[in-house]
Amino acid sequence: MGLFDLFKNPVIGENTLKSALEKSGAVFRPMNEEDLWGVMAIESRVYQFPWSERIFRDCLSSGYSSWVYEGANVIVAYGIVSAAAAGEAHILNICVHPDAHMCGYGQRMVEKLIRVAVERQAETIFLEVRPSNHGAIRLYERLGFNEIGRRKGYYQAVGGQREDALMMALKIEDGSTFKASC
Ligand SMILES: CC(C)(COP(=O)(O)OP(=O)(O)OC[C@H]1O[C@@H](n2cnc3c(N)ncnc32)[C@H](O)[C@@H]1OP(=O)(O)O)[C@@H](O)C(=O)NCCC(=O)NCCS
Repeated sequence: MGLFDLFKNPVIGENTLKSALEKSGAVFRPMNEEDLWGVMAIESRVYQFPWSERIFRDCLSSGYSSWVYEGANVIVAYGIVSAAAAGEAHILNICVHPDAHMCGYGQRMVEKLIRVAVERQAETIFLEVRPSNHGAIRLYERLGFNEIGRRKGYYQAVGGQREDALMMALKIEDGSTFKASC
């Protein structure tokens, strides 16, 4: 079964994808240009205001650390973190296939991005999230991110409105598990 089949019928796709992943497992690998079709298919399904393919291409050409988590020949999750500069890294995007939510893949992807950032000497990792995105906020808090402020009207919202961004940060302490695992 290929990616196209999984997208044809979201209900069948959900069961098929989850059971296929249970059997085959999934692995991390760097994202490349050939992945963008699959990445865009997920991006446009989960976000009301998705990134354009151009933004992903720019991330790849800028050398941002871009990863997919792949199993059963399907991209299950993807994430992008900016290279650390002056001890800081920024998670720019993290997304899980809509038919595989709440299976732990989001957490695995964020942990991967944190490890990559720590390998690149990041001491603090930042991200922005919509205050309405309760699931994502819960995931970040669970991993140790704290709210550090808000960016007023940062995001596009329905009806031409704007939504604030919640700014969150994770401080990598000496002896933290993320440091120890690198
Ligand atoms: C947010 C997102 C990445 C979470 O990925 P996921 O694989 O579904 O989440 P996980 O299964 O790894 O969940 C890990 C923890 O996060 C929290 N969480 C994740 N999704 C949640 C939800 N919808 N509601 C409540 N808690 C949630 C829970 O604490 C969960 O642990 P628990 O199940 O033991 O309570 C995923 O929902 C997604 O891709 N959303 C669309 C894109 C997006 O919003 N990205 C973030 C932009 S800032």
